[in-house]
Amino acid sequence: MRLIGIVLAAGQGKRMKSSLYKVLHPVCGKPMIGHVVDALEEAGVDKTMAIVGHGSDAVRAYLGNRVEYALQEEQLGTGHAVMQATDQLSNEEGMTIVVCGDTPLIRATTLQTLAAYHQEHKAACTILSAKLGDPHGYGRILRSDDGYVQRIVEQKDCSEEEERICEINTGTYIFDNQKLFAALSHISNNNAQGEYYLTDVIGILRQQDHLIEALSVSDPEESIGVNDRIALAEAERIMRRRINHNLMLQGVTIVDPEHTYIASDVTIGSDTIVHPGVVLEGTCQIGANCVIGPNTHCSDVVIGDQCEVRQSVLTEATVGANVQVGPYAYVRPGTVVQDNVKVGAFVEIKNSTINSGSKVPHLSYVGDADVGKDVNIGLWHHHRQL
Ligand code: UD1
Ligand code: MG
Repeated sequence: MRLIGIVLAAGQGKRMKSSLYKVLHPVCGKPMIGHVVDALEEAGVDKTMAIVGHGSDAVRAYLGNRVEYALQEEQLGTGHAVMQATDQLSNEEGMTIVVCGDTPLIRATTLQTLAAYHQEHKAACTILSAKLGDPHGYGRILRSDDGYVQRIVEQKDCSEEEERICEINTGTYIFDNQKLFAALSHISNNNAQGEYYLTDVIGILRQQDHLIEALSVSDPEESIGVNDRIALAEAERIMRRRINHNLMLQGVTIVDPEHTYIASDVTIGSDTIVHPGVVLEGTCQIGANCVIGPNTHCSDVVIGDQCEVRQSVLTEATVGANVQVGPYAYVRPGTVVQDNVKVGAFVEIKNSTINSGSKVPHLSYVGDADVGKDVNIGLWHHHRQL
């Protein structure tokens, strides 16, 4: 069956107190909305629609043509946001997952489980719910005496009794697409916030006698919505742990995972040892059987097998196999270090090629140079052809 994704990403994110638009704040090096779109793509959506408003140009620049866009000029609520895609989507047959752009921890497998459950139960909507010790702030799920989901009530609209309900709406749902858009045309903004709530669609579908299901997320951490920098740090911590766990399962030794900062798209070969204080950013590709760190910062570098990189900073450089770097080397953009090279202590290299077998053992600057094979460089400045 056809599967569409809708990402809600038009809100301002005032609580971030930032000039950077909320969904573009990175978690482990990748903007939050990037994680969400990744999850949708991995879950197998046929297409994704992003609802954009604040910072829409920046979001478009980042996501490009991975998704389609609908503009919500004024932020009148989550239901109003989805309504902006009516022209593009309302006639499509199939299922639609709606997810918030600020929930970077949602997993593709969870979306797949949600879709499978939804199909199996032939529901009009299945809500991804969570049972929380402290449900404050979230929409609560109201069930009938015989246990069927009836509607969602927002925190600000809760009665005292409703406030005590611990089953909450995570803000991720899957709908029968046409039923979603048909019900949206019936929502109003007659509520405590004067907004058009997407959550009201649930009650409307129920009144039309459709079946609503709620599936409880197995790992409540997935439902964290990032509204401020405190939640951002929390999401970063959880994502960092996931990344490091995955790498360890693939055969990488991470000596102290709590103090190792590896971005989402980094790859590392097996039997490589990563010491504390290592930061690997961007699209680093690290080979097998390497020793990285301690205290090493790499951005967008490719490092071959059997390398040692200690207490060094490397940016946009390519390093071959069996290379030693550091301690205290600074390898700058455009540098290519070939196999069996040594780049030693207090060496800075910029935009240069060091051919295989050469050594720059200590206290040197090499800039815009092409250093031949098996050369050993001492203590002077080098420019251009050696
Ligand atoms: C929403 C749900 C609530 C749920 C919670 C989970 C509604 C009415 N409530 O509440 O039941 O428990 O998420 O985190 O949906 N957005 C737009 N346009 C708008 C308003 C919001 O695109 O006009 C986007 C925001 O950018 C954000 C998402 O929708 O990504 C959720 O909006 P937010 O205002 O944070 O909803 P909550 O009050 O958290
Ligand atoms: Mg929110």
